Amino acid sequence: MSRDTRLCYSLLDVIGDTPLVELGRITRGVAGRVLAKVEYLNPGFSKKDRIARQIIEDAEADGTLMPGQTVVELTSGNTGTGLAIVCGLKGYPFVAVMSKGNSRERARMMAALGAEVVLVDQLPGSTPGQVSGGDLELVEQAARRITAERGAFRADQFHHTGNFRAHFLHTGPEILRQCGGEVDAFCDFAGTGGTFAGCAAALKEHDARVRCYLVEPAGAAVLAGVPVTDPNHRIQGGGYSMAPLDLVRPEYVDGYLQVTDDEAIRVARRLAREEGAFAGFSSGANVAAALQLLRGPCAGQTIVTILNDSGLKYLSTDLWS
Ligand SMILES: Cc1ncc(COP(=O)(O)O)c(C=O)c1O
Repeated sequence: MSRDTRLCYSLLDVIGDTPLVELGRITRGVAGRVLAKVEYLNPGFSKKDRIARQIIEDAEADGTLMPGQTVVELTSGNTGTGLAIVCGLKGYPFVAVMSKGNSRERARMMAALGAEVVLVDQLPGSTPGQVSGGDLELVEQAARRITAERGAFRADQFHHTGNFRAHFLHTGPEILRQCGGEVDAFCDFAGTGGTFAGCAAALKEHDARVRCYLVEPAGAAVLAGVPVTDPNHRIQGGGYSMAPLDLVRPEYVDGYLQVTDDEAIRVARRLAREEGAFAGFSSGANVAAALQLLRGPCAGQTIVTILNDSGLKYLSTDLWS
């Protein structure tokens, strides 16, 4: 069976319907299965294309976004890339506001797609490649200011229900269709928590026994209620020490998993070498968390997780050195 190769009339139609692949090599010697949703095959090379399309189309439908109005969003790069694609195709000017701590490929890609990119300095003492909640707060202040100055629509991925709906209406149901409903557990590294919440809601609606685990950086596991010891982790795209997350309802969460930088990096490298899956830090974190489940409470079971974005977005980092 191959992917649908019908003629499409816009890259908007290419978003979603990504493959679900069993990672049969990385799980050798471990009882159970890991199924990974290959989200880096979206047009912007990440899962965030899905929420970009959903937020913009929901806002068009409810009248909060006017024709030609500027769109502004805070991004670690992936939502911005999705919005650059969607806004470019639909005729909305787009301003991406991002921390300088994120990898520079992201800024260049958004600019190439027609976005205006505003880079915000990190807090004094912060390290490039390690974006903390404090760094993100500075980006939030800049995004608010630019939104007000330009009379813009703020995509607001941390709060807009389009973020949840993208995964509740599409990612989750796709997973269920692709695995024939045979899933015991789901885990995902949280930034906004939109992917986690939307997929968890869809999976639990199918079968309330599916257990859903939030993944956080070890040292910054605030959602689990653990005191933060190190906010400056390397898993870009989440782990911002923000709690609670608006989109994540307590009833979606069965447990919390923590992954170190080293584990995320080691598993991202194994994914590339052993599975041919060229993905980023947070995908490594997700599969590391899925392996923790197979070695612990979910031995012998089927775990679904997400390959969030492409390893190409980290060529300037030492992930591949
Ligand atoms: C690479 C990467 N991983 C994980 C996440 C977290 O996804 P979510 O915001 O749905 O929790 C993001 C979000 O931007 C991301 O860019």
